Amino acid sequence: MANNSAKLLRARLAKNDEFYTQYADVEFECDHYRPHFFNKQIYCNCDTGDSAFVKYFNNLKSQGLIRDVWHTGGLGGADFRCPQSIELLKKADLVVTNPPFSLFREFMSLVLKYNKPFLVICNKNAIAYRELFELIKTNKIWPGVRRWAGGMRFIVPDSDQTREVPAIWLTNLDHACRPKPLHLSCRYTSGSFPRYDNAGAINIDKTASIPCDYDGIMGVPITFIEKYCPAQFEILGLDKDFTTDGGAGIVNGHRIYSRIFIRKRLDTTT
Ligand SMILES: C[S@@+](CC[C@H](N)C(=O)[O-])C[C@H]1O[C@@H](n2cnc3c(N)ncnc32)[C@H](O)[C@@H]1O
Repeated sequence: MANNSAKLLRARLAKNDEFYTQYADVEFECDHYRPHFFNKQIYCNCDTGDSAFVKYFNNLKSQGLIRDVWHTGGLGGADFRCPQSIELLKKADLVVTNPPFSLFREFMSLVLKYNKPFLVICNKNAIAYRELFELIKTNKIWPGVRRWAGGMRFIVPDSDQTREVPAIWLTNLDHACRPKPLHLSCRYTSGSFPRYDNAGAINIDKTASIPCDYDGIMGVPITFIEKYCPAQFEILGLDKDFTTDGGAGIVNGHRIYSRIFIRKRLDTTT
């Protein structure tokens, strides 16, 4: 029985992996990184020749703006974990793709193992994966240019429909749209910021409500990461690192999901 439900779950996850990025979305994001791509060998390791990523990079190649683009379709649709694919990964200068969400942890651990510059699409929730969260916290990886609101629409196979997915771009390539310090207009004294029952911090429901005059620890929604300016704030950890019971934060007896804990850097004036 357990085996069957595990099979069903795997099948469902695999089914959810089959959606394709629209050319306009690839172009909008990737155009911000053109200097990083110049004269480079780009590997799209979850793509076939007809993917929008491969089309975009073939365009750049035909203009002499990148050296080459490789894709797993070129290896007969190989698994990104197979030896031939790993050989290409090692040779590539950069990895750019939309990997299967069900294998995202594994995908990223490979990209990070080989220390590759990358630009990828992932589910918003992936930023709370421990390994990735630690890298975001220490400013080694960060979100891409595209705003998070509204998710992204992807092409569904064998249909002319698109489907909205809470997807974001994640990268370790610098770009011109990294967040500047937030202008904080709320005051602690005039807001309503309850303390957690199970953590020594105040709860804040919206990034826009972070008070300018509070220097203690604050729990904020995970979407704070989109606005995170490391010069202004320090990320301390996930909710489970901070609560006395190792679970989500509790406010007035109610569990509050998906919080991260932050503190203002005291040497900033914002
Ligand atoms: C979210 S889709 C994105 C496809 C394409 N990169 C795009 O953006 O249009 C993820 C793709 O990864 C492929 N895939 C699934 N498992 C894979 C694996 N182990 N190695 C390489 N590709 C895989 C799926 O077939 C699927 O086409």
